Amino acid sequence: MLLTTYASNYVEGVDKAFVLILGISFFFLISLTLVMIYFIYRYNEKRNPKATQIKGSTTLEIIWTVIPTILVLLMFHFGWMGFKTMKDKAPEGSFKVKAIARMWSFAFEYENGKVTDKLYVPLNQPVEVELIAQDVIHSFYVPAFRIKEDMVPGQEKYSWFIAGEEGSFDLFCAEYCGLRHSYMITTVEVMEQDKFFEWYGDTAKISPFMEVDDLMAGQEVLRKNACLSCHSMDGSRLVGPTFKGLYGNKRVVITNGEEREIIADDDYIKRSVWDSDADLVKGYNKGLMMNYKELVSEKELEDIVAYLKSLNEE
Ligand code: CUA
Repeated sequence: MLLTTYASNYVEGVDKAFVLILGISFFFLISLTLVMIYFIYRYNEKRNPKATQIKGSTTLEIIWTVIPTILVLLMFHFGWMGFKTMKDKAPEGSFKVKAIARMWSFAFEYENGKVTDKLYVPLNQPVEVELIAQDVIHSFYVPAFRIKEDMVPGQEKYSWFIAGEEGSFDLFCAEYCGLRHSYMITTVEVMEQDKFFEWYGDTAKISPFMEVDDLMAGQEVLRKNACLSCHSMDGSRLVGPTFKGLYGNKRVVITNGEEREIIADDDYIKRSVWDSDADLVKGYNKGLMMNYKELVSEKELEDIVAYLKSLNEE
């Protein structure tokens, strides 16, 4: 059908309703315009000097009530058919993934503990996505799959789909969630089942396209937790202070409302990850960074420190 791919099991239903509504709209746009042009010609004052008054017509009333009713019901029927499958429970044995949204990135957590910043899924197998928002409302939007579902803090929400084509598809946040909302872009990577499960079974491999040896552990922790959406590496000021030249340098912070000067050492960095407002860098706003105590382990903290330290050596 027109414009259609079969990237997911919803494409057919959604596109059917879309094309039907578009078709009906075009039909009326064109036919009304033609009738209007004809009337301008036919009932011009020169050809029709005296206007005729028509009063009441049951036949006409019935026609313009019944036809639109049928059309609207048709639109509803096709719209509902496409929508209903989305709202049904995911089929038994679906592959489960958690999609976690926070200002301003997505993370995907798999049942075996893997965490990625792209959503990797197997081809032709139902995938159930638990939608979790950690701070404000975000929205899980995969245009090619015809899926858009709000992610609301504190609400249990799910979405499921069957990917029908291999490839890479855009995944956006579709709910304005603050300053860097537009940075919440990632992709769904649909892989053949063999390839997917080979990657999935190998817990050391974070991305199927990258060898773990190529990654510095600390950098990987920063990437996974989207630290770099708010902290730059090049010295520029974003929502939070930059990481450039951070380690071992002086900082003016606000601790319990008191201004003081400290050295950004291991302890300071670790504390700032787990309890971000404890020593707030002067000039930055409170409450913008959540506490990563549950998300970043002690080992990962060490990795972060080692990585930030290494930046100074370059
Ligand atoms: Cu998250 Cu917009």
